[in-house]
Amino acid sequence: MTKHSMRGEKKMTIGETVSGGALTELSRWSNRVLEDRVHRTLYTDPAVFEEEIVKVFGGQSWVYLAHESQLPKPHSYLSVRMGQRPLLLTRDRNGALHGIFNRCSHRGATICRDEAGVAKSFQCPYHGWTFRNTGELVGAPWPEGYGMDFDKSQFGLRKVNRIETYRGFIFGTLSEDAPSVPDWLGPATTWLDYWIDRAPNGEVFVRSAAYRMGYRGNWKLAYDNAGDGYHPSFSHRSLLEMASRMGESKDMSYFGRTPDDGPMRSYSLGNGHSVIDQRPAHEGGFWVNQRPQPGRERLEEEIRAKYPERADELLDLCVGAQINLSIFPNLLIIGNQIQVIEPLAVNRTQLTWHATSIGGVPEEVNTVRMRTQEDFPAFGEPDDQANFEEVQRGLDVVEEEWILMNRGLGTGWQSAAEDGVISTAVTDELHMRSYYAEWIKRMGGAQA
Ligand code: FES
Ligand SMILES: [Fe+2]
Repeated sequence: MTKHSMRGEKKMTIGETVSGGALTELSRWSNRVLEDRVHRTLYTDPAVFEEEIVKVFGGQSWVYLAHESQLPKPHSYLSVRMGQRPLLLTRDRNGALHGIFNRCSHRGATICRDEAGVAKSFQCPYHGWTFRNTGELVGAPWPEGYGMDFDKSQFGLRKVNRIETYRGFIFGTLSEDAPSVPDWLGPATTWLDYWIDRAPNGEVFVRSAAYRMGYRGNWKLAYDNAGDGYHPSFSHRSLLEMASRMGESKDMSYFGRTPDDGPMRSYSLGNGHSVIDQRPAHEGGFWVNQRPQPGRERLEEEIRAKYPERADELLDLCVGAQINLSIFPNLLIIGNQIQVIEPLAVNRTQLTWHATSIGGVPEEVNTVRMRTQEDFPAFGEPDDQANFEEVQRGLDVVEEEWILMNRGLGTGWQSAAEDGVISTAVTDELHMRSYYAEWIKRMGGAQA
C-alpha cells in the first residue's frame, strides 16, 4: 500500500477517531481501516482471515453458537462451529450447557460426525477413545498399551471457556475476562427483547431444518450488507417488480421512496452491533404491508374466521419483526429468522437461515410464519449473495485498493443518545464504520 494510493489525502484511521484523535496503533492492520474506507486486503488476504479466526471468532469475543430450543432435553447435542473450530454443544444430565471442541484429544479426529442428537457419551470413530458429553475422557481401548503414568484426567476434550445465554441465545467465548453477555450486548438487548417478546410468552423455537447457503466471498460482506439500507431498491429490484405484478408491493419498496430522509432509522448500538428499524415505514400494521405470497390467502381466511377478535394481531405475528439486528460478529436477526455467518476461508462463507416458530399462538400462525420465512431467503438473499460474490471478484483489481464506507459522513445525520447509541438515516454507512472500530479493537487483542 502506498501513500499515493490513498489519493494524496491523509485520512484518519478508525483507531484515531475512536480514541478522540490520539494516534494509537491498535493493531497491525490499523492503516487498512481509515475513517471513511477500508483496504481490499481485509477481504482477500489469508493472513487477515487467519488472525480473524483467532481474535474475532476467538480471543475476547463472544460468538453466537445456537438457540437453546435446538437442545431440547438432557443429553441433547448439536454440532456447530465457533469460527472454523468444530464444536459440540451439549446438555448434561442436569440440563446445563457445555461447549466441547469436536477434536479428539488422541490424534485430532472429530469425535462426532452427526449434526444433532441425544448422547451421554461420544466414542471417537478412529481408535475408540470415549468421552462424556461434558468432555472427560472415560477410557481408551487396551489401556495396557499406555505407561503407568497415563492419567485419563489430563486428556479430556478442550472446552469453550465460558458459555452464557441471553433469553435462549447461546454465546461462547474463549476469554475468562470478557464482560457478561448482557453487558456486551448492551443496548442491543432492548432490540433482542422486542424480537423475543413478539411471541406472547416470549417462547421462540428454532425449527430443525435450516436453509443453508454458501457464497464465494469474505464473511464480512454479509455483515456489511445486513445493516445496509442503501441497496434494497437496486439489489432487490426483480423481487420488488415481481411482487408488484402480483399485487400492491409495499414491503421493502419504501427503501426507494424516501431513501435519506424517510421515517426508518439505523442505530449504531456499540461493540459493533447495529440495527435497522423498518417499523416506521409500516403504517397500518405489518401484515397489510407484506408483499403477496402464494398460498397464504386460505390461511388468512382461516385465521380471520376462527379468531375474528384477534385476527389482525395474529396476522402481524405471522410476518417479520421489521427490524434487522446485527450482533457482531456472526448473528443476524432478519424478519423472523436467525441468520448465522460462518467463515470458511478468506473467500468462502456459509450463511445459515434458521426459521422460527413461537409459543402461545394458534398453529395457523406458525404455518403462515413458515410460508413468509420461505419468501426472502428464496427470492431476496440470492440477490445479496450474487453481489457478495461480485464484490469479491471486483476486489481482484489489486491496483484499486479501497472500499468506501463514507455514506453519511459530513451530512450531520447522526445524533447520539445518552446511552451512546447513535441514530442516523437508514442509508448511512455508519454500521460499517462502527463495526470496523470494533474489528480493529479485536484484531489488536485489546481488552473489551
Ligand atoms: S483420533 Fe480419536 S481415538 Fe484416535
Ligand atoms: Fe439485501
